[in-house]
Amino acid sequence: MLSAPEPPFLYGTAWKEDRTAGLTELALRAGFRGIDTANQRKHYFEAGAGEGLAAAYRAGIVKRGDLFLQTKFTYQRGQDHRLPYDPAARVSLQVAQSLASSLEHLGADYVDSFVLHGPASGSGWTAADSEVWEAMREQRDAGRARLLGVSNVSLDHLEEMKASGAELPGFVQNRCFARLGWDREVRLFCNAHNIVYQGFSLLTANSGLLEHPPFVNLATEFNATPAQVVFAFARAVGILPLTGTSDAEHMRQDLASLQIRIPDEIVTALESVAG
Ligand SMILES: NC(=O)c1ccc[n+]([C@@H]2O[C@H](COP(=O)([O-])OP(=O)(O)OC[C@H]3O[C@@H](n4cnc5c(N)ncnc54)[C@H](OP(=O)(O)O)[C@@H]3O)[C@@H](O)[C@H]2O)c1
Repeated sequence: MLSAPEPPFLYGTAWKEDRTAGLTELALRAGFRGIDTANQRKHYFEAGAGEGLAAAYRAGIVKRGDLFLQTKFTYQRGQDHRLPYDPAARVSLQVAQSLASSLEHLGADYVDSFVLHGPASGSGWTAADSEVWEAMREQRDAGRARLLGVSNVSLDHLEEMKASGAELPGFVQNRCFARLGWDREVRLFCNAHNIVYQGFSLLTANSGLLEHPPFVNLATEFNATPAQVVFAFARAVGILPLTGTSDAEHMRQDLASLQIRIPDEIVTALESVAG
């Protein structure tokens, strides 16, 4: 298995339906090397992401080994009728069926990261989660995923997962609200346990903040947009950001934000700007 480099930005493919293939290819042409998807037809068209990858391979833009591909297993309650597994099967078998289907969609032998889309319960790490996690570990050990992750988790989920003796994830992917200190509690847990924190909805969950003077002033100072400052700030505090932009200019701007260096004292101030 080739080891893909850890990308500095992930391109998210949710909610793009028929535009998924074209936008995935466009994102690769723009320079994104991390692609986030899920085998959840309700919100993602994973086969479309695979078509975009195939087009980029054919055009010679990237090779599989240049990429970081991430997909997710989603419990039935997060799906519509278009299930990627047999709902009557045990969840451990559903995990295997879901990943096999993802690999087919993506035209890949393995994914770089396989993520539990969300725990079974809003509070606590349940027996079902333990069974799913064990099945995900088996898929990883069989070479079908390099790393594992969990998404939409609270600190309680992570602490209970740890207390259960489970292997901890390589990634946490969460919605990142500035008013919660940019998910401070979960990020602290991640830092302490060598887990890479992936943040989504950095713009949409914090839209009011983009007009907040510190972001507007910094943007002016760096000749950047407030959105670019948010992404640069995220990187500075160790967040691996996701963007799902459908706009070529925003793709360019989002990647260009990687060049912005915000001074440490300002990063500290921005970290508590809203919580
Ligand atoms: N694990 C989960 O449960 C979960 C949940 C939600 C999302 N995700 C993942 O995260 C990805 C990103 O989702 P998201 O919730 O962060 O929202 P998003 O789909 O990235 O939407 C971001 C919004 O910000 C705008 N935008 C992006 N770059 C911009 C820029 N430079 N300047 C101004 N506006 C900009 C976009 O508009 P334009 O299109 O016009 O640029 C869009 O309206 C998804 O595709 C998915 O892969 C995961």
